[in-house]
Amino acid sequence: MTHKIDEEMLQTLAGEVKALKKERKAVILAHYYQRPEVQDIADFVGDSLQLSQQAAKTDAEVIVFCGVHFMAESAAILSPDKVVLLPELNAGCPMADMVDAEALRAYKKRIPGVRIVCYVNSSAEVKAESDICCTSSNAVKVIQSLQGDDILFIPDENLGRYAAKILGRSLQLWPGYCKTHDRLTKEDILKARKEHPLAKVIVHPECREDICQEADYIGSTAGLITYAQNSENKEFIVGTESGILHRLHQVCPDKEFYLASERLVCPNMKSTTLAKVRDALKTLSPRITVKEEIRVRAKEALDRMLAL
Ligand code: 13P
Ligand code: SF4
Repeated sequence: MTHKIDEEMLQTLAGEVKALKKERKAVILAHYYQRPEVQDIADFVGDSLQLSQQAAKTDAEVIVFCGVHFMAESAAILSPDKVVLLPELNAGCPMADMVDAEALRAYKKRIPGVRIVCYVNSSAEVKAESDICCTSSNAVKVIQSLQGDDILFIPDENLGRYAAKILGRSLQLWPGYCKTHDRLTKEDILKARKEHPLAKVIVHPECREDICQEADYIGSTAGLITYAQNSENKEFIVGTESGILHRLHQVCPDKEFYLASERLVCPNMKSTTLAKVRDALKTLSPRITVKEEIRVRAKEALDRMLAL
């Protein structure tokens, strides 16, 4: 009974969002970690790279970003003339908060000439201090585009280590990490393997090194989905945030997916609800803007990545 009422409520909300979206000439972008009902009303669901590409090219007047703060900020950096809305203003990313512009300036002073590769999970101020941005799907390619050794990778130590290992290069790593992926342990993976011996283990590079060592495939959210789609295998143990299961079930209805741990839930990603999306469209707030002097410098780092 309760389930039916919830379903009806979600349908009503989805209808309201659809009508307001048309009225506001808005586009709704959602990350794969969002709640299923939020992914379902989005015009585009994707990984961080795909979402920033969409934000850069959309001709909609309003962008509703169903994700976390740094994603909406990237959209505002790339499309300053658009109204960029983040339905839940407190949806932040703890990893992005692990580095700040002042600490970076001090680092650059200490090591003159160091080039900074900045994972998009970072603030606009941090991007403005960086040479080039990357996402989990293009980190290897971005680092490959830079010559020499003096490269600092921020803020995700795990992604930096993973990319460095693939390239056989040494990078300076900032000690940041994703609090959600960090909750996944090697014991979780071994237990899941025991329960599902035929399953492939697929994980996000934000996972710790000992988890990545256990994986059959490591990739961005979009990479994990493509891998599962193209694989002959029928079962997968999934080492990333739970929201991805929604898309995996949609694109691979005949395959089985087991979340490697029930702790793989990012509270920030889950704080956006349909009601908040509706309210954002109604009130055109909370709006994300970036100071022009920061925006211009941060855009250079994002543009260098997008040009690749
Ligand atoms: P991707 O979608 O680029 O794999 O990023 C994962 C992530 O942690 C976003 O917060
Ligand atoms: Fe940040 Fe991790 Fe949540 Fe992504 S999943 S928003 S990296 S805390």
